Amino acid sequence: MSAVSAGAGELRLVGFLCNWCSYGGADTAGVGRFIQPTDLRIIRLPCSGRVNPLFIVKALLYGADGVLVSGCHPRDCHYAEGNFYARRRLEVLKQFLPTLGIDPRRFEYTWVSASEGQRWQQVVSRFTEQIHSLGPVPQLPGAPELEWGAA
Ligand code: FES
Repeated sequence: MSAVSAGAGELRLVGFLCNWCSYGGADTAGVGRFIQPTDLRIIRLPCSGRVNPLFIVKALLYGADGVLVSGCHPRDCHYAEGNFYARRRLEVLKQFLPTLGIDPRRFEYTWVSASEGQRWQQVVSRFTEQIHSLGPVPQLPGAPELEWGAA
């Protein structure tokens, strides 16, 4: 078991990506050799509708500096309505984060298709830049201290 820590100058960003579109988009960006920041650690899910808002809250409370969720564009979800459910939940979460003492700018959701490698590059670059401008997340009082990235 080894710990994976953020590299020098990197912040700890977590990305929840749907398998069918956004993960493909990230892959397309990689295959296209588009230059992008390396801060993001991707967690692949079958659909953005699988993202429980608690995943995001826990990531932010446990030391992530930012969380990005990305799925298929509306009407392109491979499970028909998963991203519509996701959008409703994630919009409510964004409103709720300040109540938990979390800056809502540390969380974003978006849509990227498998063919949009360039769009993925822009999304991840802009989000990473935004989190860098906010800096590392301040440790919340009473938040559990976990080893980041333990595998
Ligand atoms: Fe991509 Fe549902 S399969 S958002």
